[in-house]
Amino acid sequence: MDFPIFFLDGMGTRLLIGIIAGMHVLINHPLAVGIYPLLVLIEYVAFKKNWPALDEVARKITFVVFIITTTVGALSGVGIWLSTSLAAPFAIGSLLRVFFWGWFVEWLVFISEVILIMIYFLTWKRWREGRLKILHMRFGIALAVMSWLTMALIVAILAFMMDSGGWTQNKNFFSAFFNPLYIPQLIFRTFYALMAAGFFALFCTFFFTKKGTEERRTMVTTCSGWALFSGLACLFGGIVYMAFIPPAMKAQIDVGLLTMQFAQWQDKFNVLLFVTCVAFVVIGFWGFLEPKHLPQLAMVLPLFLSVWLLGHFERVREFIRKPYVIADYMYSNGFRPDELEFFQYNGILKYATYARHSEVTEDNLIDAGEDVFMLTCSRCHTTGGINGVLNKFTAMYGTGAWDPAAMKAFMSTMHNSRKFMPPFPGNDQEKEALVAYILDLKENPRPLPGAQSAGIALNPLQVRQVVKLSEQKHKSLSQAERIRSTQN
Ligand code: HEC
Repeated sequence: MDFPIFFLDGMGTRLLIGIIAGMHVLINHPLAVGIYPLLVLIEYVAFKKNWPALDEVARKITFVVFIITTTVGALSGVGIWLSTSLAAPFAIGSLLRVFFWGWFVEWLVFISEVILIMIYFLTWKRWREGRLKILHMRFGIALAVMSWLTMALIVAILAFMMDSGGWTQNKNFFSAFFNPLYIPQLIFRTFYALMAAGFFALFCTFFFTKKGTEERRTMVTTCSGWALFSGLACLFGGIVYMAFIPPAMKAQIDVGLLTMQFAQWQDKFNVLLFVTCVAFVVIGFWGFLEPKHLPQLAMVLPLFLSVWLLGHFERVREFIRKPYVIADYMYSNGFRPDELEFFQYNGILKYATYARHSEVTEDNLIDAGEDVFMLTCSRCHTTGGINGVLNKFTAMYGTGAWDPAAMKAFMSTMHNSRKFMPPFPGNDQEKEALVAYILDLKENPRPLPGAQSAGIALNPLQVRQVVKLSEQKHKSLSQAERIRSTQN
């Protein structure tokens, strides 16, 4: 409503965020958060046993981590805030206000993390012995703490978006930060990151050590054991996390996992999930107890399994908080529950700063409907692309003629039958305009450009008001000018 609408018809803004955020988290959890304690441990073992070859393996893994985290990792992190600010500026604006100091500290912690990884990696070869080596490991520990802290701060925001807890009443920063889902999600993610780091190091071991060497044996035992025990803790964390998820969100897991079309495949999906967990445990035990006999495939496979698992976890997390972008406070399309009644009575177009039409008339029905689509549906639906509204209605009403009255009735109740959608926020005429637009779109499918390509349209009503105000300003300025000149 209050921002020009960025829109990617076809791909949808959700997928854009999904790709960037997915890439970031897949790098961040194993490589930035989970790996440093493990690297310091390996470094420590090498130091105690005076074993330069093992130390070198840890250094090589750090090199990979250093390159990936400071390039794709850091850029995709910034990319998340850029893409989410484009897609949902209203939500990011609110989150910034609620979490201002949290975000500020996050920035400081992130800068320290980047400086520490530079020191940790770049001094590795020079600080190899005695007290310098000990100092080096201390930097490693500091790096591990800072990396975990960046995640710990951001998870508070992610959990808040799912369950805003007491904040809706008291608007207190600490209520927002320590929301009910924060600690459970943090426990889960911490152990997930440690587990995935173990599998990542195992994967690197395959490339950085030779078969049959003592280094490989020690690395396989350490990484498998690390992954196994943190994996079991992660499982425990997952159970605690699930227990804290509100029932209304749990009810949406089936669609969240596989979309509506495949929701009934949830049982099959759960089998896949179970097989993945069993594979983790078996490989973990095997590598830990019998490192010499762990098949080569078992060294590389778990990393890929952990990638799909985390990717899917994030998808489900993002899905089940729908229809909200901030739980109980703001819907995904930016409308708030407490303003619904007002808009449903008065309409939304009049109050939208960026809309081409300020009301629905007989002449502008379809165009005004397009505005309504942009304002109310476009944060989740495209027209004919991913999660396209045409496909959704086709799935419901078939390819023949659609009944406008049925469509209008659907919009009035869609939030009841499909709880992941917010209530329609506009008035009756706006509902009719939206139906007219969708029906017209069905006859003449065409892409809908966002403000980034179509340009910014200011609401005519608002333009008129701005003109009126500036005329008033002009008048009073010239009046003041006249008074001043007569005084002189
Ligand atoms: C918060 C995001 C969100 C918003 C906003 C939203 N939808 Fe949806 N809608 C969804 C999702 C998600 C699905 C199901 C996708 C799937 O899994 O197939 C869906 C499904 C649908 C369906 C199919 C329902 C069924 O029972 O088969 C229709 C029709 C639909 N939406 C229309 C709309 C219209 C019209 C608007 C705007 C007034 C809108 N939606 C707003 C997220 C949203």
